[in-house]
Amino acid sequence: MKLLLLMACLLFCVEGFSQDKNVPADFLTPDFHKGRREKLRETLPPNSVAVFFANPVRNRSNDVDFVYHQDPDFYYLTGYKETDAVLLIFKDKQTAANGTVYSEIIFVRPRNANEELWNGGRLGKEGVRSALGLNQAFNNTDFKKYNVDFAKFSNILFYDFNNDVRDDASDSTDLYSLIEQFKVKVNYPSKSTALNVQPEQKKKNLNTSDLDNLMSGLRGVKTKEELELIRKAVNISCTAQREVMKAIKPGMSEREIQGIHEFVFKKYQAEDVGYPSIVGAGNNGCILHYEDNYKPLITSSEMILMDLGAEYRGYTADITRTIPVSGKFSPEQKLIYELVLKAQEEAMKICKPGIAFQDMTLVTQAVINKGLKELGILKSETERHNYYPHGCCHHIGLDVHDKGARMRLLENMVITIEPGIYIPQNSPCDKRWWGIAVRIEDDFLITKTGVDQLSKLAPRTVDDIEALMKEPSALDDFVLPELH
Ligand code: GLY
Ligand code: MN
Ligand code: MN
Repeated sequence: MKLLLLMACLLFCVEGFSQDKNVPADFLTPDFHKGRREKLRETLPPNSVAVFFANPVRNRSNDVDFVYHQDPDFYYLTGYKETDAVLLIFKDKQTAANGTVYSEIIFVRPRNANEELWNGGRLGKEGVRSALGLNQAFNNTDFKKYNVDFAKFSNILFYDFNNDVRDDASDSTDLYSLIEQFKVKVNYPSKSTALNVQPEQKKKNLNTSDLDNLMSGLRGVKTKEELELIRKAVNISCTAQREVMKAIKPGMSEREIQGIHEFVFKKYQAEDVGYPSIVGAGNNGCILHYEDNYKPLITSSEMILMDLGAEYRGYTADITRTIPVSGKFSPEQKLIYELVLKAQEEAMKICKPGIAFQDMTLVTQAVINKGLKELGILKSETERHNYYPHGCCHHIGLDVHDKGARMRLLENMVITIEPGIYIPQNSPCDKRWWGIAVRIEDDFLITKTGVDQLSKLAPRTVDDIEALMKEPSALDDFVLPELH
């Protein structure tokens, strides 16, 4: 019997799934989320409450909705992955009418057999208590009548409303209704958003300005549990880049390249992409957030810019590689590529605790301006231009552009360093440069003294890329029939 149990346990471990085989076992634990709520409570101002709403469901068309994605703050603090919920975190202990003492409370969707038949299981308040460890969990149908004396707080912290949540008129406990009920409870000014109300009209204890800073302070510095998931997302994304480097051939389509990346993501059980995949061949690489990925035939004279990140248990990578479709960089492509690489290397050298994003952007701009001048693409290093129109860095985590301080890096932050050069057709330079677009984007953990490059697995130098592109691919033999 013992042996059987052991074997069953091992099987679950090997598969990486919990006893409910539909749910992966490596999501963040209830203890993680509890710890984050405690940390937030420590940073809340005296006599305050922080209020968070779940993300709404968004309609795609007719009766089809977009795949649901929880609001990252809500997820970070609870682990709850459903809509129509509100979370209250109090600075101080509260006493309920029945004498219960509590410092956080959540209202969630009730169980509903018919809804669950069509759309899958809900945790319900019991599930939230047992699976997420939030003991004060109630049905959202109880929120309206639940008595919280909001007037007594010096600060009610929440994100101001964008008024972009749909009202399901048949449901008095949808997210829209929860927000309306909250507005009544806190005397939220009517007929306007708090963003544009006159100061004298604004209730003194409504604070829509400070929560973002508090959450940025928390979410910007990653815990070891988060780092494990980020490393996994990054490794999966790097593996996809490697497989594409081996498989790519002239005549493939941008969409097909996107498909190979995303197949690898899913093969490793990543639930999603962290942002829409960018796969741009030739001039399409010049569009920074190119998402069409329509080009049917990529050609051997082009490079292809591939900016994709797997989302694994909520955490996303953000990696860009730019490679020659032919497997060998042309002289012009190589010159631009190596200039971007040098800019990235210089930024990596100065990156450590205390440095600001702007410092790294300036370093990369200096390298790129000098190089473009030497290549004759700029007339002078100080000439204004649009060949590198974006900043160099951002945090990654639950969001691809994650919350976190930008002015002073701290140990255990995770950021990208991603310089680029984009020379669209008809640019004011020799036309041999036209259509060249290069971005090199890697993900870095800030250590005590510098950085740990998390995305090493994906080759980055010209020699390493060209060498890997010579290797055979498992997809060489994967030939699908023609469609007629
Ligand atoms: N993938 C979006 C970005 O690099 O910021
Ligand atoms: Mn990025
Ligand atoms: Mn990117």
